[in-house]
Amino acid sequence: MNAQNVRPVTSCRVCGGSDWQDVVALGEVPLANAFLEPAASYEDEASYPLGVISCRSCRLMSVTHVVDPEVMYRTYSYVTSDSETITRHMEFVATTCRERARLAAGDLVVELGSNTGQQLAVFARDGSRVLGVDPARNLAAVAHERGIPTLPEFFTDATARAVRRSHGPARLILGRHVFAHIDDLAGVLAGVRALLAPDGVFVVEVPYGVDLLEKYAFDTIYHEHLSYFLLRTLDTLFTRHGLSLFDVERLPVHGGSLLVLVGRPEAGRAVTDEVGALMAAEEQAGLGSDAAYREFARGVRNVCEELPALVHRLRAEGKRIAGYGASAKGTTILNVCGLGSDEVAYCTDTTSLKQGKVLPGTHIPVRSPDHARSDPPDVYLMLAWNYADEILRKEADFLRAGGRFILPFPKPAVVSADSLR
Ligand code: TYD
Ligand code: ZN
Repeated sequence: MNAQNVRPVTSCRVCGGSDWQDVVALGEVPLANAFLEPAASYEDEASYPLGVISCRSCRLMSVTHVVDPEVMYRTYSYVTSDSETITRHMEFVATTCRERARLAAGDLVVELGSNTGQQLAVFARDGSRVLGVDPARNLAAVAHERGIPTLPEFFTDATARAVRRSHGPARLILGRHVFAHIDDLAGVLAGVRALLAPDGVFVVEVPYGVDLLEKYAFDTIYHEHLSYFLLRTLDTLFTRHGLSLFDVERLPVHGGSLLVLVGRPEAGRAVTDEVGALMAAEEQAGLGSDAAYREFARGVRNVCEELPALVHRLRAEGKRIAGYGASAKGTTILNVCGLGSDEVAYCTDTTSLKQGKVLPGTHIPVRSPDHARSDPPDVYLMLAWNYADEILRKEADFLRAGGRFILPFPKPAVVSADSLR
């Protein structure tokens, strides 16, 4: 462990509380997107404690340790997946935003954590002025190439004020799957208040804590994901920072997400019935009490016992196994379950930045889909299960030829062409 770049969480980043329930401890794990060049030895590889705690006051689930964002994000190998699911979802987000923020041609749309600019390109195509803000310098450069202006910075109060001076107020601010990555939520929300037009809308998409709890999908726990939110937790957060959450939609994307719409309280928007209904459902499911999180921990332990047992059984039968998708989630599940290159021959991934490298901690090589097709395994371990439907469709030939997939959650299961019929 590199103690300089990491600190334990003490007070809650949402409510300031410090009464934590210990939920799960997953050991020391390297950073999920710290892919390495193949080497003879990996002695210098850093790993950091990984675990989750739950704030008894606002029920934020937080990782136990925060790694310095400068270490995680300045050069970043996570690129938005070029998948049908995501393309469709981005159109949906753009349509929802256009309607709810009543975007007119020329209105300013700012996205934080804009990655390679794929989402903003949809807004630009439809006539918005767009600006991305993303600290990953390598990705901001890619976004520029596709014509999406991007500031290679963290979104802070200072950045937001500078943007307002140069571009004017934003009609829409968007943060998709970035909010869970931010420790200084107060700073970001001060920036949002500084930049948002009086009747502008801040749209936030986060993985939904309830999906994590229900699926036992502990592989979405890694150091980049500092926070796992319930709706009630988000509501507490925005209220504390002078903003008002007025609508919510639950979506299947990325294994289960919430899209929340936030505005200035002065804009006087009515809060929709969906908000009250979902908060009531959280209450009814017992998510305010410790028992729900103990049940989650039980389900996680179960996957951690059954998955390696299943893999070892298949290996003993002489089956060759490969990972499908060198996802960040894969780093967690493989490291926590003790699965390495003896068990998993390679991981196939469409991201060219990852191909030719090895996975953090396990050092399993990443291969291109072409390479995988020329040397297919008997069984794929599904490490990009959030795209399972799309992938199973795409791999129909592999399945027809007798190939199988292991789906890890909520309980490890093997699927084949027969079982999918
Ligand atoms: P993703 O679920 O987007 O995120 P995370 O890294 O946060 O867990 O990662 C999925 C990975 O799977 C990504 O590296 C791209 C890869 N992938 C494929 O290789 N083939 C596919 O068909 C799809 C949809 C994704
Ligand atoms: Zn709290």
